[in-house]
Amino acid sequence: MIEFTEEQKKAISDAQEKFSSIKDNPDLLTESQLDLLFGQARSMNGWKDKGISDEMLHSLYELVKMGPTSTNSCPARFVFIKSSEMKEKIKDALLPNNVEKCMTAPVITIIGYDLDFSDYMGKLFPHMDVAPMYKGNSDMNFATAFRNGSLQGAYLMIIARAMGLDCGPMSGFNNELVDELFFKDTNIKSNFLCCLGYGDPSKIFFRLPRLDFDEVCEII
Ligand SMILES: Cc1cc2nc3c(=O)[nH]c(=O)nc-3n(C[C@H](O)[C@H](O)[C@H](O)COP(=O)(O)O)c2cc1C
Repeated sequence: MIEFTEEQKKAISDAQEKFSSIKDNPDLLTESQLDLLFGQARSMNGWKDKGISDEMLHSLYELVKMGPTSTNSCPARFVFIKSSEMKEKIKDALLPNNVEKCMTAPVITIIGYDLDFSDYMGKLFPHMDVAPMYKGNSDMNFATAFRNGSLQGAYLMIIARAMGLDCGPMSGFNNELVDELFFKDTNIKSNFLCCLGYGDPSKIFFRLPRLDFDEVCEII
């Protein structure tokens, strides 16, 4: 049984109150807002000539960081590439069909996961000492970093769309080379890339089919 301090007890009741005040009268998303996030949102192949400010990237992260991760581990690491110099640096690691899409994007995000994520557990999960659980089990450490880092990458895409941005996710690149170029001397590994910007509708392909409920879901 965890013993909470008075300060932690107050933080718990504040959080419960805040949550209830939103859930008691929820403004549910409209059809068109859901379309913007998922229904009609598309993966991008080209970009309008319109940049993304640093402030917007900060606002994006302020929401991304709120997405849930196991033991609040927050293992994702994000590198937002905006400069031509850094775009040139990542260019060699891209598969040929991804080069133009990336080079013309206002931002190329490297979504990585930090295998040393547990170094932050004292801050992120202060009421319990969970770091040894990860440090002492490399399979669990990797699974936690990769699973939750991937989720955080997905949160990034959905929040970007909610902010009116478009996404071009990519796994067609040389992970080892990106790790060498951008995460040298760290325990951070690249997961996938996500170009961000305002999409050029003329570059969109036809929509590929998805699997139906009965093909992949069961209610038991
Ligand atoms: C993790 C991930 C990796 C992807 N890698 C590539 C890629 O390397 N090159 C590319 O052109 N598209 C890539 N895509 C885009 C997918 O092909 C696209 O999301 C999928 O076909 C659905 O397209 P839609 O969102 O427009 O319906 C990737 C998507 C994801 C989520």
